[in-house]
Amino acid sequence: MIATGGLMDGRDIRASLAAGASAAALGTAFLVSTESGAPRAHKQAILSTVKDSTVITRAFSGRPARGLPNAFIQKLMSHEDAILPYPLQNALTRAMRAAAARQANPEFLSLWAGQGVARARSMPAAELVNCLVAEMAAIMPSK
Ligand SMILES: Cc1cc2nc3c(=O)[nH]c(=O)nc-3n(C[C@H](O)[C@H](O)[C@H](O)COP(=O)(O)O)c2cc1C
Repeated sequence: MIATGGLMDGRDIRASLAAGASAAALGTAFLVSTESGAPRAHKQAILSTVKDSTVITRAFSGRPARGLPNAFIQKLMSHEDAILPYPLQNALTRAMRAAAARQANPEFLSLWAGQGVARARSMPAAELVNCLVAEMAAIMPSK
């Protein structure tokens, strides 16, 4: 079983393994890494988030997904019935998302993020991996 969702540091990984998982997968933690191709506005939105304010929305793709709230999600809240099923809604919002990324406008971009978003740390991916390993080792020597 692979644990996932809201895992951001070595302590989280240790806790998942202690609870019986055989591995842990981290998404948001690496989204803000130097190598990540996420739009600058997406990275900035994550790094300026101080508490878990994520919401689940169908607004961008037509399928439920977790991300930071913004103007587009807000606007579609009162028009849930008008949201098309995936992949139609995804295709419909593609040009808008691309334009928002070009303009570094977080309000019309899909700001996907997990529940540990407030604890995201920006650094090169290799450095983050070393950091996670060191944090795990600090809690308990590996078996
Ligand atoms: C940018 C981004 C896109 C994602 N897209 C999908 C997706 O299309 N389908 C899916 O099942 N999960 C998707 N996920 C969720 C990840 O597969 C993973 O379960 C999650 O990111 C782990 O939680 P964490 O981000 O809190 O570490 C996505 C996550 C991110 C950050």
